[in-house]
Amino acid sequence: MNSVETMTQAARGMHDILPGKSADYLKIETAARRIFSLFGYREIRTPMLEPLSLFERALGQTTDVVEKEMFTLKDRGGRTLCLRPEGTAGVVRSFIENSLWKKSPLVKLFYLGSMFRAERPQKGRLREFAQIGSEYFGNDSPAADAETIQLALEILGSVGVRAWELQLNSIGCAECRPQYQALLLKFLRKQFTQLCSNCKNRIDKNPLRALDCKLDREQLAGVPESQNHLCPRCREHHEQLKKLLSSARVAFKIVPHLVRGLDYYTRTVFEIYPSGKTGSQDALAAGGRYDTLVQDLGGEKVPAVGFAMGIERVLNFLDEQGIETVENKKRGQAVFVAALGNDSIEKSFQILSQLRAQGWEAEAVLNNQSLKSQMRLADSLGMKFCIIIGEDELKQNVVTLRDLNAQSQEKVPMAELFARLKKESK
Ligand code: HAM
Repeated sequence: MNSVETMTQAARGMHDILPGKSADYLKIETAARRIFSLFGYREIRTPMLEPLSLFERALGQTTDVVEKEMFTLKDRGGRTLCLRPEGTAGVVRSFIENSLWKKSPLVKLFYLGSMFRAERPQKGRLREFAQIGSEYFGNDSPAADAETIQLALEILGSVGVRAWELQLNSIGCAECRPQYQALLLKFLRKQFTQLCSNCKNRIDKNPLRALDCKLDREQLAGVPESQNHLCPRCREHHEQLKKLLSSARVAFKIVPHLVRGLDYYTRTVFEIYPSGKTGSQDALAAGGRYDTLVQDLGGEKVPAVGFAMGIERVLNFLDEQGIETVENKKRGQAVFVAALGNDSIEKSFQILSQLRAQGWEAEAVLNNQSLKSQMRLADSLGMKFCIIIGEDELKQNVVTLRDLNAQSQEKVPMAELFARLKKESK
């Protein structure tokens, strides 16, 4: 491909969010902000570029994200940075760096923004995608896990996703996981020759990753399940969470092999899918508890739990279901000002300015186009009213007010225009 073509194409896996679509993003973001505020979460904004070492340490060296999907670069000082592939590690770094736990024992944060993973681009897998997420620090109760799950479901429900499947598992803690991992490794070693090359390389360092492998599903029949090897405290946590969810009428499905693709999780892990659609590119949101990450990254011992939702995944799903998105909606009360002839341009511009100053969504081109083409334009923009100002209107000090939906029009004295618009738009 020559350089001109390259220059006018977005980078592989990156997408423009065009007007209309951007309104859909705003709709989800606005709904999320309202719900976060109800649940007591406050916004945090962390850098898109972070040290690579942060993610290697937090997500784990043997995860797909760190091994294969990082966008890395060197800054002028020779430091290796990367575009953040997810939000949790940066939020935890900021939590430690800014000693947020000293200000309050409970810290509830949310974030919205782009994440970057150099995956093979395909439907539901972008190289830049937008996440909405939350992180709740300082509460080791299963009630915090339940709240996090409820928060994700509330946001999904508020934008129209009502039929979902919540998959849940517990992967234990530093106390019980080593014994479980040893059992798992023993099982995987017996299957060694049949495992994919990726798993062969990883199982000694991190046997849990094999449970997340898309290629080795068939090799895993009869694999030991973490839920059967939990220590009493993890078991109690898991049982209590299930009770809390049931009491809040949140349906869940225990999926014993669910481990998630990131290494920082302890105890609870969960994923939310549209019901009946549980492929690896379908998860709308996912998360879990990470009680040791703050300490692992150099902070105090602070338990935490969180989730993140992929906005594009949610929008794709709403599109597929034919659920109305903002993009398809008309501009409810918008007014188009059509000027006929040079002499009416000034008056039209004045009315356009007054309309906007009074809070009306108003548009005009004022470039001597024919009335027909101005009407066509008003229609394509989804306007409700059109104000037409020509020679006659100027002489009589009136405007022609046309309702583009009802296809009716009448002359209205200039002085009554705003009162009339208000009345008509009710
Ligand atoms: P994750 O499962 O890697 O978790 O991502 C969360 C959500 O982001 C996924 O369920 C999906 O909707 C969306 N997503 C992930 N990768 C892509 C992609 N390449 N293209 C489009 N959408 C994508 C995390 O990121 C964790 N930080 C969640 C978390 C927060 N755990 C605790 N706190």
